Amino acid sequence: MNERWRSKRVTALFGIEHPIVQGGMIHNSGGRLAAAVSGAGGLGLVGAGSLYPDEFRAEIRRVRELTDKPFGVNLPLLYDHARDCLDVALGEGVGIVFTSAGSPQRVAGRLKEAGVVFVHVAASPALAVKCEAAGCDAVVVEGFEAGGHNGREELTTMVLVPLCVEAVSIPVIAAGGIASGAQLAAALALGAEGVQVGSRFAATVESSSHSDFKQAVVDGDDTRLVLKKHVPVRLLRNAFRERIEAAEADGASRDRLVDLLGKGRARLGMGEGDLVEGELEIGQVAAMIHDVPPAAAVVARLVAEYDAALIRLGIGS
Ligand SMILES: Cc1cc2nc3c(=O)[nH]c(=O)nc-3n(C[C@H](O)[C@H](O)[C@H](O)COP(=O)(O)O)c2cc1C
Repeated sequence: MNERWRSKRVTALFGIEHPIVQGGMIHNSGGRLAAAVSGAGGLGLVGAGSLYPDEFRAEIRRVRELTDKPFGVNLPLLYDHARDCLDVALGEGVGIVFTSAGSPQRVAGRLKEAGVVFVHVAASPALAVKCEAAGCDAVVVEGFEAGGHNGREELTTMVLVPLCVEAVSIPVIAAGGIASGAQLAAALALGAEGVQVGSRFAATVESSSHSDFKQAVVDGDDTRLVLKKHVPVRLLRNAFRERIEAAEADGASRDRLVDLLGKGRARLGMGEGDLVEGELEIGQVAAMIHDVPPAAAVVARLVAEYDAALIRLGIGS
């Protein structure tokens, strides 16, 4: 990877070669995906969001069977079992913990005491500042384009990243709308020191999601942020999303939306491949995803395209 402009803070913090993190993704980011990304020189994360603590422990152990490279975990704090999964991660000696969907203050004490590298995901400069104050070693700032659950702020990555770079002195890792090396170069040009990529890794061989979901990502290009009155989430178009959109256009209350959502939609869509009634979480970059390659090929492409982008700008060779 062309070294010009490249800060070493993120790669040094995690002990990795390329400043590329594979984001935690419910129903996608098991141990196989994390190991493939880490093995290719990025940082793979095992996502705890859709796993029971015992399953989570098994996935952490699976990474270690497949690679001896550094890896981490993602703990969305909004789930009931987050605390148990934190116990599992610390008990297994995981050295890198990314948290999201909650207050970093809640877990900062335990993580700092355990001496792990601690990163939180923020969707606004104000939350990025709170992450720094809580003792985070870096902050992921995730723009409106991103797949999965999203902030309410609607700040796009293009605007969010420079605002956060200005607001904090810890390294900023840009997320949302990054699926190519040109987008990686753009994020670094905005002052980010690394990127977190989600959607592009969801449609890879090692992702644990259903093959029909991966194919829907390849075929689809229409995503919308829905359920803002509840927990905002970006979804690919299907009958379920259309029903939610119609209810929202009708002014449905939060309770009505929660009722329509029901339970287990994400598992149904991404885990079981129900493309009609399931939640199909993916980012705007779905429109740029045309294949389901091995995750290592995605890392290699990002690096090669980054180098090509710099040559286009007249600063690479
Ligand atoms: C299918 C899917 C599931 C996700 N689940 C989680 C999650 O469990 N925890 C989390 O912090 N972020 C989650 N995200 C967000 C990603 O970690 C990442 O920040 C985001 O995908 C980056 O934007 P991109 O999709 O444009 O690459 C999810 C994203 C996707 C696409």
